[in-house]
Amino acid sequence: MCGIVGYIGDKNVYPILIKGLQRLEYRGYDSAGIAIYNSDLKTYKKKGKVSDLETFVADKDITGHVGIGHTRWATHGEPNDVNAHPHTSMHGNFVLVHNGIIENYAELKKDLTGKGYVFQTETDTEVLVNLIEYFYSLDEVDNAELAVRLALSKVVGAYGIVVLCKNEKHRIIAARLGSPLVIGIGQGEYFLASDASPIVEYTDSVIYMNDGDVAVIEKNSLTLKTVDNDPANFKVTKVDLSIGDLEKGDFEHYMLKEIFEQPKTIQDTYRGRIKADQKEIVLGGLLDVFPKIVNANRIIIIGCGTSWHAALVAEYLIEEYARIPVEVEYASEFRYRKPIINPGDVVMAISQSGETADTLAALKMAKAQGALILGICNVVGSSIARETDAGVYTHAGTEIGVASTKAFTAQVTVLTLFAFKLAKERGKISQELYEQLIGEMLAIPDKVQTILLSHPNIKKVAEKYKDAINALYLGRGYLFPVALEGALKLKEISYMHAEGYAAGEMKHGPIALVDDNLPVVVVSAKDSYYEKVVSNIQEVKARKGNVIAVVTEDDNGLRNMANDLFEVPESHPAVAALLAVVPLQLFAYYIAVMRGCNVDQPRNLAKSVTVE
Ligand code: F6R
Repeated sequence: MCGIVGYIGDKNVYPILIKGLQRLEYRGYDSAGIAIYNSDLKTYKKKGKVSDLETFVADKDITGHVGIGHTRWATHGEPNDVNAHPHTSMHGNFVLVHNGIIENYAELKKDLTGKGYVFQTETDTEVLVNLIEYFYSLDEVDNAELAVRLALSKVVGAYGIVVLCKNEKHRIIAARLGSPLVIGIGQGEYFLASDASPIVEYTDSVIYMNDGDVAVIEKNSLTLKTVDNDPANFKVTKVDLSIGDLEKGDFEHYMLKEIFEQPKTIQDTYRGRIKADQKEIVLGGLLDVFPKIVNANRIIIIGCGTSWHAALVAEYLIEEYARIPVEVEYASEFRYRKPIINPGDVVMAISQSGETADTLAALKMAKAQGALILGICNVVGSSIARETDAGVYTHAGTEIGVASTKAFTAQVTVLTLFAFKLAKERGKISQELYEQLIGEMLAIPDKVQTILLSHPNIKKVAEKYKDAINALYLGRGYLFPVALEGALKLKEISYMHAEGYAAGEMKHGPIALVDDNLPVVVVSAKDSYYEKVVSNIQEVKARKGNVIAVVTEDDNGLRNMANDLFEVPESHPAVAALLAVVPLQLFAYYIAVMRGCNVDQPRNLAKSVTVE
């Protein structure tokens, strides 16, 4: 949520800031702004997209070699020019960009108002920049770094901030608590960003700042300390990210590119983890803790949104095959509802970004109560990945489309391997079944490819239903979470109201919605639920609902009952979710495009939800 970028060195700063903001725009796109040192400290900001900011500065003086930028997802104060970042302190000494929330801002604002400070905006960020300026004005404070540290010592909340001081033109100050910041190390230059994507073009050497760190950065020097002025621990790491990952290539949207990447990203995710002539699964990141997991009393899986749907698939898999009780929880509920966590419980967090505030907080809470903490994250070095005792990275590559697609299938891939491995280690499945299940997983990329080739049919069906007001998605067993995920995809990018339901629940309420205007997407497979799904379809048809059925290629029964079909190759039920979700991603995508929506940046959303 909100993207930050910064640069100090000999290059022209403006192109670095603008390109960086474009790469970070998925984190928020309400407004954008930059501040650049040249003869003076100049700030330009604009409501709207980064492209609106570019137009705005076209005739302005944007020369300089030191600067910061921000793309915003509004928390305090509506998205407009004034509330956009950077924010400037009342006397103009400081300029600051901020990602996060200052929770005690009202109290701090009252104090500062009492000291004569006047505020132009409703933002918590303006309070922070003025608090820094206030400390800077004290006789005993003679530098910006000290003012920043003193101000941060008064702050309750989360922040990633980058600060410029008018009187220290050769220096950038950055600090992190709860909101990510990465420092890129170049030759006689440094870069700063909320994630590595704006940096990889220039250097692959980075430092992921830790919570509580303050960095003082000059062209040729970097000092990292804690807020209390003690030396900070840090590690220089290499980022493994290619520019190709960050570009759309020939695709019209990132989301479409990411849907089409899935045969490769699923394969990348299991590659190196299926070994010994396809007879064994090895999850290197869990090796040390696997004996504990095998003996766990219970596994609690936490996540939000799409990641929560992946967790539901895992619940079904782990309980069916490994026979360990599993609970799936919304992180936002789990963290506050005083859950019972016993010794022997394993808590697993699932998160694409690895930065979701609720998931991170829930994880910390479970850790404090003594649980073994695992993480399934896509972003290497992210906060959740670093907080966990052990984990497995999904190798989906950078996901830029705000609606998650390839990250979901990568999560389900890891969770499926995890469930199969656990089942085998606990002696709940035979070597023969284990190898059969591994074989099913290895067949998935080609089957996804087959589904992708059917995109013209999916587009045709989308054309038919694009003007619907509501849609209902139904599924059972492993395909129930897929129904939830299909509905979420449709509503978040096309703004068509859609609900996902366990098909058996339909007659307990949603059936009242069924009429000849309602598309009902029924996700089915030739599994043990098949006959029951057929009955559900008959119930919908009896009420004149339009049934769009996801069916396996050999399914002639449903073929004759449904109004429209999305065919997927046959598979074992344990891996069926990985296939059934793909046509639903494409269906949502085409409907959103036909409705004229911005599929990569749907309104009000952001990719990385670092506020609760
Ligand atoms: C939906 C979507 C969101 C995320 C959710 C959790 O398409 O992307 O629902 O799944 O915000 O994000 P992560 O996985 O980054 O924790």
